[in-house]
This record gives sequence, structure tokens and C-alpha cells, in this order.
Amino acid sequence: MAELLYEGKAKQVYKTDKEDEYIIHYKDDATAGNGVKHDQFEGKGVLNNTISSIIFDMLEEAGIKTHMIEKINDRDIKVKKVEIFPLEVIIRNMTAGSFCKRLGFPEGVVLDEPIFELCYKNDDYGDPLINSDHAIALKLATREELAYIRDTTLKINELLKEFFLKLNLKLVDFKIEFGKTENGEILLADEISPDSCRLWDVDTNQKYDKDVFRQDIGDLIQTYKAVLARMQNK
Ligand code: C5P
Repeated sequence: MAELLYEGKAKQVYKTDKEDEYIIHYKDDATAGNGVKHDQFEGKGVLNNTISSIIFDMLEEAGIKTHMIEKINDRDIKVKKVEIFPLEVIIRNMTAGSFCKRLGFPEGVVLDEPIFELCYKNDDYGDPLINSDHAIALKLATREELAYIRDTTLKINELLKEFFLKLNLKLVDFKIEFGKTENGEILLADEISPDSCRLWDVDTNQKYDKDVFRQDIGDLIQTYKAVLARMQNK
């Protein structure tokens, strides 16, 4: 049995017999509000692994450097070993979620340009919003690393917007994470799935993401299956 290195809310990370590779295992857990709301949905891990792996392959093909080596099975992927920056990197194309709560804007306002946000990954403090100066001064990343992260994130936004628009879905916002290899290479890591993106149907604005769980407005598994079906053109 491989050694468990880290257990998060929805995933586990295992060591492998190779020094520079990890296995990520997707669980069926869903949490919201920093773990206050917690449930299990049979098959969620399989869906997120499948969806995220397709997206990471698409991004790799478009020239984005990611941690992805290969999908091993329904719930596991092999990835390059990285140390994750303690930053949640968020892009907003439209207003929703914590942005509306914080600033009082209604949901669904199209932003003139994408907003790049950083949160400090710290569960005890609820992953607070910070700016680049905080991140640099607190040595969460260097100025150069942050510039690369910002540029790459904006490129990823363009690629994801186009990808989802072809599925008749609007990319409202998303969260990604980056990590650094031992030789200093910065790679897109973690996952991209309906857990970490807000996706609205272009025609109806119906929500196809974790908001159905957060807001109790739909069936999470059916919703994620519908996203995957659009990706597989079914
Ligand atoms: O909650 P908030 O509006 O800040 O979320 C912005 C985006 O980041 C959403 O797509 C949400 O799913 C994602 N997110 C995430 N993990 C978090 C916080 C936000 O995937 N811990």
C-alpha cells in the first residue's frame, strides 16, 4: 500500500516508488463553506477525475505546463511531484459567489475584464483574500513566480472559456492551484472540475457546478454527469 502523504477534502495524495511522481486519488466527498457543509456522493470522484483529466490534457496540448503524467484508472492520476504554492488563484469573468457577498454586486454581471484574485490557503482563517504584495512580502511566491502565475492563469482562462463555450457553457469563475518542481519549474496542479469552476448554461443560465450542492438547488451527480456528457458530445 502506497504511503498517504496528504488528505484533503476531496482528494488524497500518495507517494510512489519514483521520487518525482505522486498519485492523486479522487474521493466522493463534497464540502462547502470551508467544510461546514459536508456530504458524500457516490461516483463524484470518478466524474471529477474524468472531467479534470480531459481538461488537463486539453491544456497540455495548448502549451500549458501541468503536473499531469497520466490517468491510471477511474479515480487515480499519476502526476509530477510539486510543492503547492499556498495560494488559491481565482479568475472571475462574471460576478458570483464570495465576490457578490463581499462587494454587494448582484450575481451574473459580466465583468469588463477578467479579475485575478489570490487567496491565502489556510483553512483556519477561511482562505482569506490577499493581494500580490501580501503574497510577495509573506514569501508565498516570488515576484517573478507571481508574474508567471498571473500570465499563465489568464491564458488558461482564455482556453477554458473557449472550451466551455463550445459546450454551451459560460465560464463564470474558477479556482486553480500551481506547484513547483524540485528544479523550480512551475506547473498547473490540483484539479479543474465543476467543484472548482462556475459553469452556467448559455441559454438558460442553469448552474452546472458545485453551487447546486452549496445552494441545495439540484442533484450534484446528475449535474456533473451532464457536464461530462457535453464534453463527450453525448
Ligand atoms: O466562493 P468564490 O466565489 O470565492 O469562488 C470562486 C471560484 O473558486 C468558484 O468557481 C469556486 O468553485 C472556486 N473555489 C474553489 N475552492 C475554494 C474556493 C473557491 O474551487 N476553496
